[in-house]
Amino acid sequence: MGNRLTREDAVEAGRVTPAVIGWLQRALRHEFAAARQFTLQAVVAGRLGDAALAAECERGAQDELLHARRFALELVEASAPLGDGAPLNLPVGATVMEILENARATEAQAVRLYREGARASRGLGRAQRLFEQIGAEEALHWEELNRRLR
Ligand SMILES: [Fe+2]
Ligand SMILES: [Fe+2]
Repeated sequence: MGNRLTREDAVEAGRVTPAVIGWLQRALRHEFAAARQFTLQAVVAGRLGDAALAAECERGAQDELLHARRFALELVEASAPLGDGAPLNLPVGATVMEILENARATEAQAVRLYREGARASRGLGRAQRLFEQIGAEEALHWEELNRRLR
């Protein structure tokens, strides 16, 4: 308990700003939405008989959960609330094509969101790196899906 930072301390220490806290909360919300979407897509893909796509969606869901944990850790360490927005429901899709297109849209959204997050946290070191690193992973996710859809 003793050496835990308050949110004010974290802001004062130059670790976060109120704006960056907002971007981290948005990022966390997006990651959970993506994990939910990909988990449901894995179920639908399995039902469609596409076991390879189901496995891919399942792996994707795990990746996004790891991202969620990293954003959550950053918020918790800054003693910031984890967010109070309603959870997002991203579309699942009923065909292989719809699944791929919806997933690609989610990755594109993540890339844009974390680019903004990185811009807002410029000069903060750790938060900026987090947005840049996860943004780069989302760009790879997007490229993979884009290849499949070409
Ligand atoms: Fe992610
Ligand atoms: Fe992703």
